[in-house]
Amino acid sequence: MSAPLVLALETSCDETAAAVMEGATNLRASVVASQAATHAAYGGVVPEVASREHLAHWRGVVAEALQRAGCGLGDISVFAGTTGPGLASALLVGSSAAKGFALAAGKPFLAVNHVEGHLLSPFFGEATVPDFTGLVVSGGHTLLVDVAGIGQYHLLGRTLDDAAGEAFDKVAKLLGLGYPGGPRLEETARKGDATRFALPRSMKCSGDHDFSFSGLKTAVRYLLAETAPADVPDLCAGFQEAVVDVLVHKTVNAARQSRRKLIAVSGGVGLNSRLRERMQEAAAAEGLSVRFAEPWLCTDNAAMVAYVAAQRWQGGGKSDLGADIVPTLGADLFAKT
Ligand code: KG4
Ligand code: ZN
Repeated sequence: MSAPLVLALETSCDETAAAVMEGATNLRASVVASQAATHAAYGGVVPEVASREHLAHWRGVVAEALQRAGCGLGDISVFAGTTGPGLASALLVGSSAAKGFALAAGKPFLAVNHVEGHLLSPFFGEATVPDFTGLVVSGGHTLLVDVAGIGQYHLLGRTLDDAAGEAFDKVAKLLGLGYPGGPRLEETARKGDATRFALPRSMKCSGDHDFSFSGLKTAVRYLLAETAPADVPDLCAGFQEAVVDVLVHKTVNAARQSRRKLIAVSGGVGLNSRLRERMQEAAAAEGLSVRFAEPWLCTDNAAMVAYVAAQRWQGGGKSDLGADIVPTLGADLFAKT
């Protein structure tokens, strides 16, 4: 007997996405319509523009996912939607569509936490998930989570101000590199000298697992006032090195303290080559392994949402059709004790 087909929708920020999975191990289709070009004109994501774009595109994205998966709505056994965290008006579009499908078909609905999607994405398509220390680094989140299995998460620490990706985006904007800033800043940093400017490593040795990146952004702003355009690559390289330094140091510390042997990195900043390189080196020096989400799974997508839903469904999970959206992290799933 074939595994149940899951249709997942993801509209938490600026990507309208749908995916179809057969159980947790067989991806049938993943479609992502990015709004990045629309938001670029504003230098960042504008919530109302995002929700209107989702409204304009969700039906087309779902139709394409079903077509690529070679099935129809009637073949779907479970409908899933991201209900948080994210922009409230954006979350409402995809989650309401998924609920509507479930209601019309008399099939179950599963509410999925977007951060859980990122967190498990390094193990996408695998039947089981091992114990690990998870670093989720995206435009909206920076957190360290101890994972003892699916649904067994203990929040170790998180950013107290900007997310790492948000810092990349803000500094890139400051330096006139445009939006989205992460990839452009990384590209510019390749030509720069990371040692030229001494930039702060906030909270690197704070003794806990929390982060702070807003001071670093302010430090770049002050330096920029005293430097010339030719110094931008050095500023980029120095900034990137400071972020990577703190992320790597705190992640390896967290793994050591939690006695985990595996580190898993996910989210858009997980695409950063310098982060990948330095995390591998630091983990190897401690006898730890590292798993990175595949590049196509690092930025927002519905495949990771479908994967969580399939895993949860197999474990007997189901959500209420009245499930509210939760724009914040979701304290029930990510508790910090
Ligand atoms: O996971 P994602 O799509 O967003 C959230 O769920 O929040 O990640 C997008 C973030 C953006 O902040 C973007 O600048 C950053 O990931 N990013 C990068 C790189 N590629 C994307 N940051 C650093 N280096 C990169 N190569
Ligand atoms: Zn995300």
